[in-house]
Amino acid sequence: MEQQLHNLKNQALAQIMCASSKEELENMRITYLGRKGQINLVTERLKNVGQEERKVLGRLVNDTKTALEYALRTRQQELHHVSKKEWFDPTVPGIMPQIGHLHLVTQAIDEIAGIFEKIGFVRVRYPEVEWDWFAFEALNMPKDHPARDEWETFFVDASPSPKYGNMVLTPHTSSGQVREMERVKTPPIRMINIAKCYRRQSDNTHAPMFHQFEGLVIDEGINITHLKGTIDYFAKQFYDSGRDHGPTAVSRIRPFHFMFTEPSFEVDFSCVHCEGRGCRFCKSGWHEVGGAGMVHPNVLKAGGIDPKKYSGFAFGWGVERAQLLKPGIELDDLRTLYSTDLRYLKQF
Ligand code: PHE
Repeated sequence: MEQQLHNLKNQALAQIMCASSKEELENMRITYLGRKGQINLVTERLKNVGQEERKVLGRLVNDTKTALEYALRTRQQELHHVSKKEWFDPTVPGIMPQIGHLHLVTQAIDEIAGIFEKIGFVRVRYPEVEWDWFAFEALNMPKDHPARDEWETFFVDASPSPKYGNMVLTPHTSSGQVREMERVKTPPIRMINIAKCYRRQSDNTHAPMFHQFEGLVIDEGINITHLKGTIDYFAKQFYDSGRDHGPTAVSRIRPFHFMFTEPSFEVDFSCVHCEGRGCRFCKSGWHEVGGAGMVHPNVLKAGGIDPKKYSGFAFGWGVERAQLLKPGIELDDLRTLYSTDLRYLKQF
């Protein structure tokens, strides 16, 4: 009897799935589930079997009923859709597919790369998982030097290289400087390195993963005026683009200290909201954006370049920070950039 029930169930399911009209489906419902239908016939026969067997078979009958009811309902819906298709109305407006766009940070990277490419810089990208040598040692920061504390570094749990030391997640794009010197070998070098950086920090103005762009120029006779001119050029291109008046953004450099540049500077841009007069965004009229300086002779040497013949400048700062200082982008928390909330992302 158990086998009989199984066969009955399979046969009914197969027929239901192939039914091609609502009438056919209704006939099947009567054949199997109707008052005098097959299932009820089986139920009748249950009276004659022993109590134990009845329990098992009773459950099986119920399961079969549920399965057939479900199949009937599903097939009915399918047939409904098919018949609706026959009524297809070509004048009903279509559903617009969602079209995405580049993320705000990717837009910024493209724009920054374009600005520097216009004046002959070559875009490069170096490893995010880097050796201590390129991130610190070659940049004139010996092991255990306190200057390293600035870059709250993530160390990778991997065996160190005998030549390059520990493995780190690069905390700044300056790690590309010596790599670029090794690639090009003989100056001139005009590099723009835009890449992800990692530091152990997380608050309104810092995310543990962020992007930096790093410029490096090395040639004969390079001096601070070249650096200042390049930064000013960038300020005007980046902050004045799309504005309906003449260029207003300017930059300034202030003395600072980095181990890998001498002299070193911090770079400020005039605030685009108040044009340097001072407002609630900037307070002082200026925004600090990053560091810069003339490449230290020890760094040139580490990259195999003769500091007596060549000199260079370097600068580096955060893509996110640079982008957030643009007019029209007001964000209380930089980390929002990396949320997946479409309501936010769609705005840009
Ligand atoms: N790498 C520095 C930083 O992360 C910035 C810098 C780049 C300074 C190049 C000088 C020259 O803060």
